[in-house]
Amino acid sequence: MSKSRTAVEDLSEDAAREELAALASQLAAANTAYHAEDAPELSDAEYDTLKRRNAAIEARFPELKREDSPSDQVGAAPADGFGKVNHAVRMLSLGNAFEAEEIAEFDTRIRRYLGLADDAPLPYTAEPKIDGLSLSLRYEGGTLMQAATRGDGAVGENVTANARTIDDIPVTLSGAPEMLEVRGEVYMSHADFQALNARQAERGGKTFANPRNAAAGSLRQLDPQITKSRPLRFFAYAWGEVSEPLADSQMGAIRRLEELGFQTNPLTALCDGPTEMLAHYASIEEQRATLDYDIDGVVYKVDDLDLQRRLGFRSTTPRWAIAHKFPAELAWTRLEAIDIQVGRTGALSPVARLLPVTVGGVVVSNATLHNEDYIAGRDAKGEAIRDGKDIRVGDWVQVYRAGDVIPKIADVDLSKRPEDAKPYAFPATCPECGSDAIREEGDAVRRCTGGIVCPAQAVEKLKHFVSRAAFDIEGLGAKQVEQFYRDGWIKEPSDIFDLEKNYGAGLQQLKNREGWGEKSASNLFAAIAEKRTIPLGRVIFALGLRHVGEAASNLLARHYGTWDAFETAMRAAADETGTAWDDLLGIDGVGAVMARSLVTSFAQEAERASIERLVAHLTIQAAARPDTEGSPVAGKTVVFTGTLERMTRAEAKARAEALGAKVSGSVSARTDIVVAGPGAGSKEKKARDLGVELMDEDAWLALIGQA
Ligand code: IVH
Repeated sequence: MSKSRTAVEDLSEDAAREELAALASQLAAANTAYHAEDAPELSDAEYDTLKRRNAAIEARFPELKREDSPSDQVGAAPADGFGKVNHAVRMLSLGNAFEAEEIAEFDTRIRRYLGLADDAPLPYTAEPKIDGLSLSLRYEGGTLMQAATRGDGAVGENVTANARTIDDIPVTLSGAPEMLEVRGEVYMSHADFQALNARQAERGGKTFANPRNAAAGSLRQLDPQITKSRPLRFFAYAWGEVSEPLADSQMGAIRRLEELGFQTNPLTALCDGPTEMLAHYASIEEQRATLDYDIDGVVYKVDDLDLQRRLGFRSTTPRWAIAHKFPAELAWTRLEAIDIQVGRTGALSPVARLLPVTVGGVVVSNATLHNEDYIAGRDAKGEAIRDGKDIRVGDWVQVYRAGDVIPKIADVDLSKRPEDAKPYAFPATCPECGSDAIREEGDAVRRCTGGIVCPAQAVEKLKHFVSRAAFDIEGLGAKQVEQFYRDGWIKEPSDIFDLEKNYGAGLQQLKNREGWGEKSASNLFAAIAEKRTIPLGRVIFALGLRHVGEAASNLLARHYGTWDAFETAMRAAADETGTAWDDLLGIDGVGAVMARSLVTSFAQEAERASIERLVAHLTIQAAARPDTEGSPVAGKTVVFTGTLERMTRAEAKARAEALGAKVSGSVSARTDIVVAGPGAGSKEKKARDLGVELMDEDAWLALIGQA
C-alpha cells in the first residue's frame, strides 16, 4: 500500500487504463474478502485510498471509466460481491389472480385436490402483499446467523451484516425453536422513501424510482454502514426450515412470530371462504391509499398447516396460496414509434416508444406490443381486443403497469388519431439480417429464419449463455459479448472457450483495446477456465432453447442426471411413439410444447453440431437428486387404479412424483407398482397377469412413510 504512485496528472492514457483495470479487480477482491468471506484483506483506510485513486483517474480520463467501475458500486452493488447461500427450503413465488372468479376457482381447485366436500370448512388467511423484497433469516439457538435474499429461489445472496442493521429484525430471540428460518418482506415506508430521495438528491447521489427499488438498493449494499443509514423495515409472514412446528395453523404461526418479536402485518385476517376473502380484499384495497407502505395485492393462504403440507408445491409456487393483485395503474400518452427487436429465438417483438409518462410513480417510455395481432386488435384466437381497435404510430394510447411487469398498452383513443395515421405494417423480413420472417401456423409470433446467421439472434443467444443463471462468466457480460461478436472473435458459445487459444497470444489483442488491460484479460481467461466445469442444469438452461427456462432445466437435469443420458434421450425422443418421448413427457413440469422444442433442437444438424462443439470443452457435473434421496420409490413407475380413499388422484400423483416416482395411466411390463383401491378392474387384473407388485392404498402410504 505504501508503494508510491505516479501522480494522476502525469499518467499516460495507457497507464491510466491499466491502473483502472487493476483497481477494479483489487477492489472487487477486497469486497469479496470482506463481505462474502468475512475476511477483510485491507484496512478501511487502505480501501478508501484505492477508491479515491480510482475516482481521481476517472475524473481525469472520463472516457476510460469502466463498465464495472468501483465508483458505481456504492449505489448498486454487483451480485458477485455477496456470498451465495443455498436455501435449505426453497423460497418460492406466488401464483397470481386478478379477478374475483379466480378466487372461487382457487378454492374449488384446492377442495378438488384434497377431496373436500363443497361445504366442508376450509379457512384461509388474507393479508396484504407487501411490495418489497423477500428475505430469509436463519436463527440457530435463538441467534441470527444468516440473512439471505431470495435470489433464484434456490440460491440467494448473503446479506447478514446488512440485515443486522434493520431495527425490525431481532438479533436474538427467546423461546424460539432451536432452528428457525423466518421469512418476510423488507420494505421502506413512503415517508422514509421521500426523505431518502431528498437527501440523496441534495448530495448529488442516486435517487430511486419507488420505495421497493430503494429498499432493494439499500439492502444490497456492500457496505453495511450504508444499509444502517437507510430506514428499512421488515414484516414476517412465512418460514423456511424449522426444527419444530411453530403452530398448527398459518394464523397461529403468525401469532407465534409476533410473540418472538417480529412485526407482522396488522391487516392479516382469518376468512372462512371466498366471500369473506373478497370482502377483506375490498377492505384492504380501500385502506391502500392511507397505508404508509406499498402493497400490490392480497395474499390468501390455506390456514391449516397440515393441509398446506398435503397440498405441496408446483415447480415454483405453492398450491395452498395465491396472490390476488390490485388492478393495474393507468395513464394516457402518445405512441411515437414502433421498433422491432429480434430475440434469442428469432421472435420479432414490437416495442412501443412512448412520449414519457408517469404510471404509478414510475416514468414509462417503452411498452411491449406483444405481436402483430395485438397491434391489429386481435388476440391469439383471432378475436377482437380493445373492441378491435388497431394501434398506429401517432395514436394516444393508454399504458398500464401491473405489478412488476413490463408496461402494456390497454386502449387507443380514436378521437385523437391523426388523420394521416396509417395501419402498422408488420415487417415480413428481419430488420437485423434481412432473412424472411415467417409465422408458423398456430404461432402468434413472427420469427426470423436466419438462425445463427442472424446477428441479433446469435448475440442474444450468447448474452443468454453468459447470463447469471447460465454460465455466469465474470468479466464477460452483455457488453463484452457484443464487442467480441462484432470483432468476429465469438460467434457461438464454444468460441468463448477458444478465446484464449485464438486471441490470447501475448494478450496483445485484448491489451490494445479500449477497456482491456493485461490483468483484466488474464482475469477473463481465468474466469472462463473456471466455468469449464459446470452443473448440468446450467448447461441445459444456457443453450437457450425455446420454452426451456431455468426451473425446467433443473427438472431435466435432475431427471436425466448426466449430460450423456440427457443428450441420448433428446435424440431418442424424436420418435414420438417411443419410450424416450413418454419418459420426457412424464416429467412433472414438462409439457408437449417444451418437449417438442427440446427434441427439435437436438434434431437440427447445425444446432446439434454447435452444442457438440461446446460440450467438448466442458466437464459437466451430474445433477444431484436431493428431493428423492432415500425415497423407496424413486425411479419406479407406479399406476393408481380404483377409488382412493385417503387422498385424491391428483394428490396421490403429486406426492409420488415428489418422491421421484413416475406415475403412469396404464399397466405394462415396465410398471413397478400398482396401487389398487376398491372398484379396480382391468388394471388390477393385468398387474396380476404380469406379476407386477400390487398393493392397497394403506400399504402404499406405509411404503412412502406417510401412513
Ligand atoms: S408468502 C411460499 N406472503 O410476494 C409462499 N409473500 O409474488 C411465500 N410477498 O416472494 C410467500 N407479501 O416476496 C407471502 N404476505 C405475503 C407477501 C409475500 C409479499 C412477496 C414475497 C414473494 C412474492 C411472490
